[in-house]
Amino acid sequence: MKALQIVKYGEIKDSLSINEIEKPSVKPNDVLVEVKAASLNPIDYKIAEGHLKEMLPLKLPSTIGFDVSGVVVDKGADVNNFEIGDEIYSRVPQEQMGTVAEFVTINSDKVAKKPANISFEEASGLPLTGLTAIQALEKAGIKEDDRILIHAGSGGVGSLAIQYAKAKGAIVYTTTSSKNADWVKALGADRVIDYKTEDYKVVANNLDIVFDTLGDDYTFEAFEIIKDGGKVTTIMGPPDEETAKKMGIKDYKLPEQLLKLIKEKSAVYKYTWMQPNAEQLTDIKTMVEDGDIKPIVDLIYSFEDGIDAYEYLATGRAQGKVIISLS
Ligand SMILES: NC(=O)c1ccc[n+]([C@@H]2O[C@H](COP(=O)([O-])OP(=O)(O)OC[C@H]3O[C@@H](n4cnc5c(N)ncnc54)[C@H](OP(=O)(O)O)[C@@H]3O)[C@@H](O)[C@H]2O)c1
Repeated sequence: MKALQIVKYGEIKDSLSINEIEKPSVKPNDVLVEVKAASLNPIDYKIAEGHLKEMLPLKLPSTIGFDVSGVVVDKGADVNNFEIGDEIYSRVPQEQMGTVAEFVTINSDKVAKKPANISFEEASGLPLTGLTAIQALEKAGIKEDDRILIHAGSGGVGSLAIQYAKAKGAIVYTTTSSKNADWVKALGADRVIDYKTEDYKVVANNLDIVFDTLGDDYTFEAFEIIKDGGKVTTIMGPPDEETAKKMGIKDYKLPEQLLKLIKEKSAVYKYTWMQPNAEQLTDIKTMVEDGDIKPIVDLIYSFEDGIDAYEYLATGRAQGKVIISLS
């Protein structure tokens, strides 16, 4: 079968290659999925560029991709929650990375039925970003009338986080640049802030929650705009100590500067390292079918153009999700 593989670490155009490899065989708890679409995420190209090689060591060549939608074509002896022919979607576990291929095996505990009212391409864009948005916002205990700033509302994560926060009844501020303002507003954001022309800290402050999807200075600046006792929930800042422990990072201490800011604001600071979760994927399916969440697809590439798709995503300018279609 054909697979898009990381063959060496480095620039995307040199690190990726389309290869002919053996079709995977199922273990007792796996389903074998004929891939219809795979969506791309920044973690994929960060892995290919070699930025995560200590944390996620790989034996190269290794097939790229975590997000998938497709059809179950075979299953292991112990699988009783799926049948051949089921239309599914998944964020595959780390050890089963490799969704940009004609087939992928997935532990059936990490698989959910695909939302019935959307295409395979749209469905493939939901798992990683949807799970990230839900897990990060639930860690902050988001609830009705919370005032929240979601950074990068036009990104894969941000575009779903806006919709999830609105479904929870929150008041949503979000940052993006002007070219995205209209469609991001249409997702339900109450106030879209053009980060190139406006100071987001002036527009949005005294907030209950900041969802930091950008990291670096944005993580620290979040404490300037939360109210006393407010919450900063991040996917790009330094891990909190509890999550660092779960991630297996030894002898980790939160940076002093962050500790000081947390203390000054009596704030809650949480880091999310997204985990595959089939129950939450089923919740997302329900929300999509009920019209509370819609997938935002930017561009769909053919499998043969997969390397171009990754180069586009890595510009950091995607407007929603970038998808590879194998249908
Ligand atoms: N910890 C975890 O488990 C986890 C999970 C998922 C993702 N992540 C990380 O979270 C980050 C976001 O992921 P993603 O999938 O949403 O990325 P993405 O789809 O590639 O984000 C692209 C979007 O970011 C916007 N953007 C870039 N710089 C901005 C800024 N300074 N202010 C406001 N918007 C800005 C861009 O809008 P403009 O073109 O208008 O600038 C673009 O629409 C990535 O670094 C990813 O690796 C972490």
